[in-house]
Amino acid sequence: MSAIKVSGTGCCLVDILYNDINFREDKLRKYMSIKRGDGGLSPGHLVFREEFEEFCKKTFDTALNEITGGRKPDKINIGGPSIVSLINITQMADINQCEVRFYGRGGNDEPGRFLIESLRKTKVHLSDFRLIDKATPSTVVLSDPGYENGHGERMFINSIAAAWEYGHEDLPGDFFEADLTVFGGTGLVPGIHDNMTSLLRKAKKKGCRTIVNTVFDFRNEKRNPGQRWPLGESDESYSLTDLLIADREEALRLSGTESIDSALKFFIGKRTASVIITDGSNEITAWSDGSFFAEKGMFRLPVSEKITEELKYNREGDTTGCGDNFAGGVMASLINQIKAGNKMPELREACMRGIVSGGYTCFYLGGTYFEEVPGEKQKKIEPYYAAFREQIKG
Ligand SMILES: Nc1ncnc2c1ncn2[C@@H]1O[C@H](COP(=O)(O)OP(=O)(O)OP(=O)(O)O)[C@@H](O)[C@H]1O
Ligand SMILES: [Mg+2]
Repeated sequence: MSAIKVSGTGCCLVDILYNDINFREDKLRKYMSIKRGDGGLSPGHLVFREEFEEFCKKTFDTALNEITGGRKPDKINIGGPSIVSLINITQMADINQCEVRFYGRGGNDEPGRFLIESLRKTKVHLSDFRLIDKATPSTVVLSDPGYENGHGERMFINSIAAAWEYGHEDLPGDFFEADLTVFGGTGLVPGIHDNMTSLLRKAKKKGCRTIVNTVFDFRNEKRNPGQRWPLGESDESYSLTDLLIADREEALRLSGTESIDSALKFFIGKRTASVIITDGSNEITAWSDGSFFAEKGMFRLPVSEKITEELKYNREGDTTGCGDNFAGGVMASLINQIKAGNKMPELREACMRGIVSGGYTCFYLGGTYFEEVPGEKQKKIEPYYAAFREQIKG
């Protein structure tokens, strides 16, 4: 059997981190939100660059210069649920058994060149990834470690930028010549997200399996605050999805419900073949109808105790990208199980890999782990997987 082909599209951006920004400083006051949704900055929240510029009546670069005192960022990372999860697949699955490709756009600027250079160090094939004459999609993260009596808080400014220029009509035919098509964080790639139903339908017609891992849909949340988020042109998207992975907040907003159980009921009602809902350090909820994964029904799994314990004294990392690496771990397990000859892979096993992969992300900064040698991350995660097997046995 030849290598499993995975085609992925969706959110790929740079996270630009500025540390030690005092949110209470005078010079920040005019940039801070007064009323919810006015486009100003607000601790713990994300605004779009365009609305922020409108709010402060300045270009983003001018405002950022003033906020940061013109200094260089402390760190630039690869981010975005699509690319981060795809990179994790190449690290956690047997790389000789799969071919992972990414489709999207960056901008012809410094962050864009950083992105391409970093991605070339990974095993993800840049099948249709070009830098165009727009800014690279980015999230600027302003961090105030002293906020809330030293608990710390962050503020986010996101630009969709070059990702506005990538839509369903741009996906080349070879995207669909794959075993798995993965749509990751498409909420930040409007031209893909708004056409998800047709894209999923096309993928299914071509015989691909379809996976959707979501991101907070700021665009639709802003458009219709409090209303259920759409997923493509119609709810038919759900019945065209073999595996849906969402965190709690996204699951509630997509389903327009108030609890994980009701959200799950909604997805089942819409005939999604399988669903995983993560909830940070709380247990995950999973469900499968037996058509894609072997199991029939719902189960829950806790997070890794060994990781939670070690996090009490290991403070080198952050939680950025936990969900993205969770999704990558699940997909890597799916690939490994299929390659091992398992025609009906087990969702439970895939979730276990997701849980240790997602948890391990808390040990390093940013979402993407860069390997010095192939297999390095897999080797580091193995003891956590073994411990997790023991944990759920008892
Ligand atoms: N504090 C933690 N301790 C152990 N495991 C964690 C912790 N936080 C996250 N994880 C693991 O990562 C998985 C995904 O986390 P979470 O539900 O926070 O995703 P998310 O909200 O999509 O995160 P992000 O959007 O920042 O990537 C969890 O199901 C869990 O397995
Ligand atoms: Mg997430």
